[in-house]
Amino acid sequence: MEALSFRKPLAATVLLLSSINMNAATKLTSTDFGKTPDGVTARIYTLTNKNGLEARITNYGGVVVSLKTPDRNGAMADIVLGFDALAGYISSPSPYLGALIGRYGNRIGHARFTLDGVEYKLAANNGENSLHGGTHGFNQKIWTPRELPDGGLELTYLSKDGEENYPGNLKAVVVYRLTDADELKIDYAATTDKDTVLNLTNHSYFNLKGEGQGDILGHLVTLNANRYTPVDAGLIPTGELRAVNGTPFDFTKPAAIGARIEQNDEQLKLGKGYDHNWVLNGGKALSLAARVVEPSSGRVMEVYTTEPGVQFYTGNFLDGTIKGKGGKAYRQRYGFCLETQHFPDSPNKPKFPSTVLKPGRQFHSTTVFKFSKS
Ligand code: BGC
Repeated sequence: MEALSFRKPLAATVLLLSSINMNAATKLTSTDFGKTPDGVTARIYTLTNKNGLEARITNYGGVVVSLKTPDRNGAMADIVLGFDALAGYISSPSPYLGALIGRYGNRIGHARFTLDGVEYKLAANNGENSLHGGTHGFNQKIWTPRELPDGGLELTYLSKDGEENYPGNLKAVVVYRLTDADELKIDYAATTDKDTVLNLTNHSYFNLKGEGQGDILGHLVTLNANRYTPVDAGLIPTGELRAVNGTPFDFTKPAAIGARIEQNDEQLKLGKGYDHNWVLNGGKALSLAARVVEPSSGRVMEVYTTEPGVQFYTGNFLDGTIKGKGGKAYRQRYGFCLETQHFPDSPNKPKFPSTVLKPGRQFHSTTVFKFSKS
């Protein structure tokens, strides 16, 4: 398959500019969020739209720290898992709560890949595989912030040639916007000076009842995907694109997350629930990937993306040891993630859409989380 989301620099610039004027009403303020162990002060930015939706985002890991949206009666709740203070993100980096993920989101099998005839060995931080960019991924970096005139927050990170053993100086620029159409919009762009691979995503865990308010099994999910990528015991795709039809992976019509999650299905057992990449039906244009309805609160979230896949992860590895906001224990399946992405292990799967970025090209992708009520 051909690369889906790499465009020439000019096209990407036009796209970025065209999205700027729409959201002039978003308010952006900032304050200190604490110091890293190296003594660097992280900032936290509050984006507020005209309807009172509020996103708080820090330049440490580009983490979405909180996201407040109304229920059907207008009552606001914070719908993302996270910590009250920076220290929580530093002491518990591994569940990647709310963070930007890079250089390569999700897994690379056997923690190695070959590019232009050179083998690159990565840190094996998930069994024998590499997960979410290695030991010190983009989720643990201080990004350079810039407040945009339209109320957007731009975050830039230069990942040096050889960092986590990836080739090329990679400049990643992520822009968060909270639009007056009640969307959290994320634009990703990247350039490199050597051939490299990349897969950027955001790892927010949602609970549309409100973070810490129990499990997410009653949420109704629709995924715009007829196929998914089944995995082996290390959660590495086998390479097959399998039809969801007739399996517990069929979310082409709304289904409760919990309705089939305990079924005796080999793939569900491997993931301890849903932890798989769905092959989205949408093309290169921004298309609907997922719709989630939480019946008790009436909160609805739609996800749109230009990416070819989405990792639907149901918080299977949360086990209550992490104490999140207000000291609440985050137990198994207390949050779900919809990580828009290229497919896991693409650098070792020539038939998957390519994740190779070359000098002179600009990577660009967009993901929108849109909030409404039912
Ligand atoms: C992975 C899970 C992993 C989680 C947090 C997800 O993207 O697919 O297997 O446990 O991230 O680390």
